This record gives sequence, structure tokens and C-alpha cells, in this order.
Amino acid sequence: MASDSVILVTPRTILRPMKLSDILSVSRAANSAAVAQYMRNRFPSPYTEADAEKWIKGLLAKERPCGFAIADPKTDEVIGGIGIELGKDVDFRSAEFGYWLGEDYWGKGIMSEVGKAFAEWVLKNIRVTSEYEAGKEFTLTRLFASVLDGNDGSRRVLEKSGFVLEGIMKRGAYKHGKVMDQWIYAITQED
Ligand SMILES: CC(C)(COP(=O)(O)OP(=O)(O)OC[C@H]1O[C@@H](n2cnc3c(N)ncnc32)[C@H](O)[C@@H]1OP(=O)(O)O)[C@@H](O)C(=O)NCCC(=O)NCCS
Repeated sequence: MASDSVILVTPRTILRPMKLSDILSVSRAANSAAVAQYMRNRFPSPYTEADAEKWIKGLLAKERPCGFAIADPKTDEVIGGIGIELGKDVDFRSAEFGYWLGEDYWGKGIMSEVGKAFAEWVLKNIRVTSEYEAGKEFTLTRLFASVLDGNDGSRRVLEKSGFVLEGIMKRGAYKHGKVMDQWIYAITQED
């Protein structure tokens, strides 16, 4: 059921833009305290249909959405999300990498295959511009991810996707009443 808008096909998933008809499947997959545990606080928990609608509408309103659905190729149902957030100013060739998968799909190697494929796709295909260098387009030079202490599965996904541990931001994050370290992983490419 893959459509023309599919950006990537992995052995068990397709990656494609989110659409409004995904509201139900996004809220179903995302509505889990276990999924939200190591995400940013802006990832809601509980995750309602209204939250999914807001998120998807926000993506669709962007000129070039950088967030995508991870979907089941047979049913087109969303099983997770993946995307990048572009940096600004001198960080404009740098982007933060983020992802989540519905709990039913954990532990099957799915994010390892998706993470690696998507990182390669982003570094090859995404072009960025700087407001300080008019008329020029650039590739990204750096993708990075910040993993909260305890999220060992995510650290492993990043390692298997070619990211390298650069350091630990000690006591950099606060979530659920707890101060936590953040593990910084990155993958870089030449011009
Ligand atoms: C983190 C997450 C994406 C992992 O996805 P996944 O598809 O289950 O991961 P995989 O099955 O590809 O496993 C990747 C590796 O991590 C290991 N792993 C997975 N979960 C683990 C856990 N809880 N603890 C330790 N290792 C774990 C696997 O054994 C595998 O390593 P291996 O190949 O060396 O055996 C998924 O658990 C998730 O969506 N979590 C909630 C959202 C989140 O935390 N996102 C990342 C924010 S930085």
C-alpha cells in the first residue's frame, strides 16, 4: 500500500509523511507511559487523539516537514515516528535526530533498521539554507541525539545506526522530578 510519497522502504516498514488520517493510529501507538518515559516533556502522556491531531497539523503546516511516520507497509498504519529538528544560526548544518516506536513493536530490531536507513537518507537528501548566506544550499554536516540516562535501548539503536558517543552532559535534564544525565551521540559527514 506504499504511495508515491514514501521516502524510504526498510525490510519491515515504510517511512512517509504524516497525514490527517493517521490521527487514530498515532495516538494508539504513542499512548503509553513506557514510550513517553525517555522522550522530551513535550511528548504528551497520556497521548490523546487531540494531541496527535495537533502534532500532525503542526507538521503539515511546515514548508518542508522533517517529521515522518514509520508505517506498516501492508496496512499503512503508523507504528512510530522519526524526524529531525534543524538547527539555527551557526548550527544550521546540524540537526537533532529523534524517534519513537509503539510499545508492541519494541525488541524486534525495527528501530535499528529504520534509524540507520533514515540517518543515511537525511545526510544524503536534506538540503538546508542559511539566512546569512543567501542563495546557497548545503547538506547537513552533523546529526546528533541526546539520550536520557537509562534509555539503553535508544543508545544501542544509535550505535547500530553509526552514531558515536561524544560525551555526557552531566545533570543536564530534568524529567519526572528527577535530574538526569544526557548521553550525546552524533554522526558527521564531510562537505
Ligand atoms: C528506544 C526504542 C526506539 C528502541 O526501538 P526497538 O525497535 O525496540 O530497538 P531494537 O529492537 O532495534 O533494539 C536495538 C538494540 O537495543 C537493545 N535494546 C532494546 N531495548 C533495550 C532495553 N530496554 N535495554 C537494553 N537494551 C535494549 C536491543 O537488544 C538491540 O541491541 P542488539 O541488537 O545489540 O541486541 C524504543 O524502545 C522506543 O521507541 N522507546 C520509546 C521512545 C524513545 O525512547 N525514543 C528515543 C528517545 S532518545
